[in-house]
Formats: sequence, C-alpha cells, structure tokens
Amino acid sequence: MEKLWLEVGFGAGEHALAAIGSASGIGLIACEVFENGVASLLSALVPAGKEESPSLPGNLRLWTEDARALIRTLPAASVDRLFLLFPDPWPKARHAKRRFVHPLFVPEIARILAPGGEWRIATDDPVLQAWVAEVLAGQDFFDVAPPAAERPEGWAGTRYEAKARAAGRRPLYWRLVRRGESGDSSGAASCNRGVAELSAGPENHSPLTDGGWP
Ligand SMILES: C[S@@+](CC[C@H](N)C(=O)[O-])C[C@H]1O[C@@H](n2cnc3c(N)ncnc32)[C@H](O)[C@@H]1O
Repeated sequence: MEKLWLEVGFGAGEHALAAIGSASGIGLIACEVFENGVASLLSALVPAGKEESPSLPGNLRLWTEDARALIRTLPAASVDRLFLLFPDPWPKARHAKRRFVHPLFVPEIARILAPGGEWRIATDDPVLQAWVAEVLAGQDFFDVAPPAAERPEGWAGTRYEAKARAAGRRPLYWRLVRRGESGDSSGAASCNRGVAELSAGPENHSPLTDGGWP
C-alpha cells in the first residue's frame, strides 16, 4: 500500500466501503466499537453463504476497540488521511471531555498524520460545531479552511449524515492539512488553547482520571 487512511467510528461502514474502492494503493484501517456496526460492514463485504471462508478486501483492516488506543500506538507520520465523520457529539458540557476533537488529543492526531496529510471532520451538532471551531482555532498543527456547508466533492456520504439531513440538521465539513515538511514528524506546533480551559469544564473534572481520556 502506498497510502494509509484511518477512519474513526465507521458506523455501518458506507464510507469505509467507498474509501477502499476509491483509489488504488490505499490501505484503510477502519475503527468501530459498536458491534452491530462491525456486523453491518462485514455483511456488506461477505456474501451470504460465504461466512465459512470469507474473503475480505486486502486493503482493509478492522479495529474494533477504542480508536484512541490505536492512534497512540501508530508510528509518527504514518497516516495520510484521517476521517472523523459525525462523531458522537457529547453535547452536554459535563461530557465535553469525551469529545474526540479535544485539545488533549489533537497533538496525538497531529503526531500520526504525515505532513500534507488530511484530517476530515464532519458534524451536524451545533454544540460540537462550535467546539470544533474553538479547538481548531487554538492549535497550530493544521492549516484549517473555513468549514463547508455542503459535503465536498469526493467525500462519500454516511448513514448518519443522511439521517441528520432528513431531520433538517445542517452538517459542517472541515478539511485540515497537517503542517510541516516531509520527513518532519516532530510537530514544532502545539495545542495552545488552554487544556485547563477547554478540558476541565465547569465541574473541573480531570479527563485523565474520570473516563474521558484514559
Ligand atoms: C454518530 S455515529 C456515526 C457513524 C458514521 N461515521 C456515520 O456517519 O454514519 C459515531 C460512531 O462512532 C463510534 N465511536 C465512538 N467512539 C469511538 C471510539 N473511541 N473508537 C471507535 N469508534 C468510536 C460509535 O460507536 C458510533 O458508531
């Protein structure tokens, strides 16, 4: 494989399926903790009656545990594209520490993305949209263009997105590009928007000790 892509929370797998067929030389690690989602993707890949001798695409690997654990173990600058499409929004302030886009975790994501690599984020939740904008404004690992209100060309749709639009919600789509020179994985940048400010929240929970950021 020439390029490694990573999808976090693939849901029923529509986007992952589109991604592995979208270009040659692409390998995808698709992460999902929800068993029914993993089953949906496998059902789409393995025809009925072939379960005993399934033949999965050679360019797909599944990770069925917390994607954050995988991200922490991947080598620096090893991923060319990361998809975070309609992550669980955790809109309540007291759950902010569980949001995937988080000042404590942005540096980890920046570490695994190769310079020039892309991080795609979409969400329809207004609270999460505001939060993502705020977190991204406080980091300097990525170049961030203003989010698009329509799904950019070349992005496959997802089941959750279709439901959100049918319910009248308005997704936003961010495309971030990892800064840095090729070969430089040190990330001279930082996530300077106060960790204390954004992560502790009014109840002053520690995301490191109460289940948010193990
Ligand atoms: C709202 S759904 C969106 C699914 C899909 N991306 C879509 O747009 O249809 C978010 C998914 O992320 C999964 N998820 C949440 N946290 C995760 C984690 N830490 N690692 C892997 N998957 C996760 C959930 O199980 C859920 O299926």
